[in-house]
Formats: sequence, C-alpha cells, structure tokens
Amino acid sequence: MLSWDDFYTDAPLKTMPPQPMPKPEARTEKPAFTRQKTQQGTQQEVQQKAQPGQQPKAQPAAPEPKTASPLPPAPPQDLAAEPSKPAATATSAVSHQLSDFNPDEVSHPEIGDIQPESQGLEELEMGAARIQVDQKRMINCRADLNQLVPFKYDWAWQKYLDGCANHWMPQEINMTADVATWKNPEGLSEDERRIVMRSLGYFSTADSLVANNLVLAIYRLITNPECRQYILRQAFEEAIHTHAYQYCIESLGMDEGEVFNMYREVPSVAKKAAWSLKYTQALGDPTFNTGTPATDQELLRNLVAFYCVTEGIFFYCGFTQILSMGRRNKMTGVAEQFQYILRDESMHLNFGVDIINQIKLENPHLWTEEFQHEVTRMILEGTELEIAYARDTMPRGVLGMNANMMEEYLHFIANRRLNQLGLPEQFPGAGNPFPWMSEIMDLRKEKNFFETRVIEYQTGGALSWD
Ligand SMILES: [Fe+2]
Ligand SMILES: [Fe+2]
Repeated sequence: MLSWDDFYTDAPLKTMPPQPMPKPEARTEKPAFTRQKTQQGTQQEVQQKAQPGQQPKAQPAAPEPKTASPLPPAPPQDLAAEPSKPAATATSAVSHQLSDFNPDEVSHPEIGDIQPESQGLEELEMGAARIQVDQKRMINCRADLNQLVPFKYDWAWQKYLDGCANHWMPQEINMTADVATWKNPEGLSEDERRIVMRSLGYFSTADSLVANNLVLAIYRLITNPECRQYILRQAFEEAIHTHAYQYCIESLGMDEGEVFNMYREVPSVAKKAAWSLKYTQALGDPTFNTGTPATDQELLRNLVAFYCVTEGIFFYCGFTQILSMGRRNKMTGVAEQFQYILRDESMHLNFGVDIINQIKLENPHLWTEEFQHEVTRMILEGTELEIAYARDTMPRGVLGMNANMMEEYLHFIANRRLNQLGLPEQFPGAGNPFPWMSEIMDLRKEKNFFETRVIEYQTGGALSWD
C-alpha cells in the first residue's frame, strides 16, 4: 500500500545511501553514437543497486465497505470570510520579486550536437558482453537500454508497480450531483464558480504540458530502463488526467473554448504555463543531448521545473481549493477526480525528486553552489507565481481559506521542495494552515480507493478461443 506520510508531515526525509559510482568522465570530444563495449565477457551480474531509502511495499488491499464521506469533514463554517489582505511580510532570505521575473530571460546553455552514449536505438551487437547492473546510470549511460533487468534502481520499478496498482479512469466517478449544482444558479457562489473555472482552465492544459515534456524532452535523455518504464506509466497517467479535466468540462457543459484557452488568455494562468514551457523548449530541440556539464545541468533544470515546480507547486493552490469544496459537499465528483489526480501527482513528484537526487549522487560536479542557488531561485519563482494565482482566484475569503492562508501554505510547500532537494529552507517557520490536505492525500485514512467507483475496473476482458 502506498504511503503518503512523508509529503506533508515533518517526518525525516528519506535519504539515499551513498554508493560507489563511476567517476564522471571529462568529455571534451563528441562521443561515438554507437554503444561501446565497456565490459569483457563475464556473465556474472553484479547485484549493486541504488535504493533511495525506498521501503518495499505490499500489494494494495482488497476493496473495503463504503464509508459515509469520501472526504474529511469540513468545519461548520468558513474560517476566512474576510477579504484577503496584502501579502504578509516576506520571510525569504533570498530576493525573489515576481516583478523581476521575465520568462524570456531564463538562460539556457548552448545546445550542442553531442550524441548520447545510448538511446536504445543502436544496432544489435551479437555476442556483446551482457549488461551488468553497475553499468547502469541515470544519464549518459553506455549500457544497452532495451533490457529492463538487472534492476539497479528498485525504487523506480516499485513506483511503476504502485502506479499500475492505482489505475483509475475518470468516467468511473459519478458526476450527477455536480451537474445539478453547476446548473443551479443558487448552487455555488460567484467566487466558488471562479475557482472551478480557473482550476479546470489551468489544469486542462497543464497536464498536456507535462505529458509533452515527458515524451518529447526527458524520456530519451534518462538512460535507464526502469526509470523509463515509470516515465511511460506517468505519461499515461497524464493522459488520464487531461481526460479527467475534459470529462469534468464536458459533464458540466462549460464553454470549452473559454476553459481550454485560459492558459493564453488569463495572465495568472498563462504565466505559470509560460514558465514551465520555457524549460521544455531547450530540451525539445532534437539536436539537444546531455554529455557536457552545461547540458546535463539543463536536463536537471528541466526536471526541477517540471517535477518540483509544475507538479510540486503549481498544482497545489487549485488542488487545495477544489478539495476544500469537496469537503463542503460541493462539486464532490470534480473533487474526487482531483483527489485521484493528486495521489498520482504525489508519486510523480516523489519520482522526480528521486531522479534528481540520484543524478546528483552520480554526477556531483553538476551540483555546484551556483547551480544550487539557481535551483533555489526557480523554486522561489514558482512559489511567487502560484501565490499570484491564489490572489487572482481568491479576491475574497472563500471555502474556509483566503489568499494569505494560501501564501503561507505555499511557503510551507516551497520549504518542503527545497528540503527534498537538500537545499536550505527559504521561509523559516512557515506553517501548514491546511493540515486536512495531508489527510486527503493519505486515502487510506478516509476511504478505500475503489469504493466510490460507479463501475468496476477490469484489467482485461476474458479471452475466448472459441
Ligand atoms: Fe497530471
Ligand atoms: Fe503529473
């Protein structure tokens, strides 16, 4: 069973034990595209594996009887009925003015034409030495990428298994009550409607950005089969998420043009999308390859931008708002879709953090002081953009929260992301005003995942040979 305990609790972060790694090679020449033989004919597979503190996980439990409420109960009345106030005093030790941020100024190193050691597309070498586990590397690997085993990164394979065990589809969730609420003029306040529209507006395109980044940018640059296996699973989950948002938009009869164009028509949405896209574009160039410190850092930048900021910060205001709505028994179908998406996203984030930290371990020369400052700045920029989104979507207190509370929550989240990357917190003492978010994320406490489904999920129809 999955554990979400380490996302929003103060539990010590899992750390990756140090492991012997090949020294980074000084590579000034363009490496050969074809895979090189680096090992001689031994067939013994060295069982040296990289495990970032990942505990073995049991299979998911069988469905349990339904509980009364799919979401933790809301307090009896709104806690934040007052208009939002100006931003609280900045506590960051690093200067991070949103007004200073210009997506066009994000710097990217020169894109070279260096070919990777292996992409999995090379011609077969008959009789070549068998793959040994210690040949496997997260980036710039020379070993054959078409062989899943022997595993080196067991945690990546386990996440793939966990992701499959969490499979769900949007149409399995009952949207009937939401349709009635949405179409009833008295069903929601104007502020609540604004939150639903903005959330679907941002997310309906954001998950496409994430999926495109996975498939068109990072997949070929992560040179490890078990991580690629999870990335393929994640890419499918992103497709399901986009499907879920489309399913909500269609079910509620929203103006699809308005919702899907929000990412280039509404500034608070567009700024987040533009920030993320910037980091895809450099890697999406087909001539881009890793293999130099500059290009390896460019890949790290992309991983931080998407896993830690886009999926790890940009999703949290909208998730919190919609889940707060669900706790008040409003738009419970949409809230349940978001709940399942949040569970997937938490694993995406966790996977991304593990990949980044593994690349750091294997390539310590990339994690320079200057680069650490740059990553910190990226986290702070993302936090500022999400706070701006919170202020745009919550001009007044609504649903038991207001923009100031969300700002503190996002400072708390930013600290968490920095911690996960081994960087110092920038918002000392930031608390979590929404502890119920961690309860929602730990679905085991509230309900069994399967119990509210309106149809049974089938892993496959029975085959007949008749
Ligand atoms: Fe997603
Ligand atoms: Fe995701």
